[in-house]
Amino acid sequence: MDLFDKLVERPSPLGPFTSEGYGYYTFPKLEGPLGPDMKFNGKDVVVWSINDYLGIGANETIKKVDADAAAKYSFSAPMGARLMTGNSDEHEALEKELADFVHKPDALLLNYGYQGIMSVIHSLVDRNDFLIYDELSHACIVDGKQLAMSETAVFKHNDIEGLERQLQRAVNRMKPNSSILVVTEGVFGMTGDLGKLKEIVALKEKYPFRLLVDDAHGFGTLGHDGSGAGTELGCQDGIDIYFGTFAKSVALIGAFVATEPRVIEFLKANARSQIFAKSLPIALVVSARERIKLIRENPQWRDKLWENAKKLRKGLREIGYNVLPSESPVTPVLTEGSTELCTTIMRELREKHGIFVSGVAYPVVPKGMVLIRLIPMATHTDKHIDKTLKAFEAIKPIVFKDVNVSKSA
Ligand SMILES: Cc1ncc(COP(=O)(O)O)c(C=O)c1O
Repeated sequence: MDLFDKLVERPSPLGPFTSEGYGYYTFPKLEGPLGPDMKFNGKDVVVWSINDYLGIGANETIKKVDADAAAKYSFSAPMGARLMTGNSDEHEALEKELADFVHKPDALLLNYGYQGIMSVIHSLVDRNDFLIYDELSHACIVDGKQLAMSETAVFKHNDIEGLERQLQRAVNRMKPNSSILVVTEGVFGMTGDLGKLKEIVALKEKYPFRLLVDDAHGFGTLGHDGSGAGTELGCQDGIDIYFGTFAKSVALIGAFVATEPRVIEFLKANARSQIFAKSLPIALVVSARERIKLIRENPQWRDKLWENAKKLRKGLREIGYNVLPSESPVTPVLTEGSTELCTTIMRELREKHGIFVSGVAYPVVPKGMVLIRLIPMATHTDKHIDKTLKAFEAIKPIVFKDVNVSKSA
């Protein structure tokens, strides 16, 4: 059978969101300056779907830095991979600043978080090793596992006893040259709960393993200084390899891992997606440096983000919604219903109330459940929150049509 003909017959992982939903539920185009007020299909909407947590995307200082850096360096330089011709003082300076920010001795820039962490996992473990990860880990960790030559095992989400069983199992089967890598997330992006990092770090007293934490959503939003979930939970030192991406709080492209210099040296020579790919443009790196500097200098952005998250959650709970007990700014609203209800909620909010949210249904969440995820930003105002709460109040008859009692967790 022709390969392309076969593809057409394969069920899409996006299910009913695929063709009829294109441009609306999937691949929607939010237009206008980045921020809480954007346009969707020509209509003004209050946006709760972008991860620009600190409102950096609309920051005027940053825009000027971006423009000046682009004028000075263009978007082309440097050409080539870092290893060959693509390195610069700016890249190296950013790495030092990132390491300092997250309280680690050294850091390595990654072109993209997704490929970067895949390669990090791939290069760290070999066929003698054991890789153990949380079942709700992001796709990039799961794909990293697919590449890894090691034995892999999964533990139930945040189930420390389950992790311990896997560690015990690995220890029982270890050869003299076997090692163990445990991978989890700082913040689980769909539900907003934190990885049980402190408990995992405590297991190091009993088992010989290294811990890699993907803190995509925690970097910039958690900890007294924005250095992430490890700092928030008081165990940053116990994280052996800290991963952060610029795709959320930094509102840019790029990512990094921070760890000991000897591991960075190893990754520089072994992380294949970085060795065989063009490095980040200098203009972007200059912008990243300024963004990191501003994040460090403006803790009030993080305070405002949290103030908004708390107001939004309180309001949603007061009108009867089941807001999951998130420990990060991610605000997940769970209700009973079908995929159809999920799309109806999104459509009602967008068309009748000018509120843009994203929702997911089965198979991302269990059958019969609908999860609407709101991402607060520091740039949301009380007006945005009030308008959103009014809209959620107005759609209650639709949301709770088949539910006898609305819950408030
Ligand atoms: C938890 C998590 N890890 C990794 C990534 C991938 O990062 P990037 O967008 O930099 O490729 C994302 C999404 O951005 C994410 O949410």
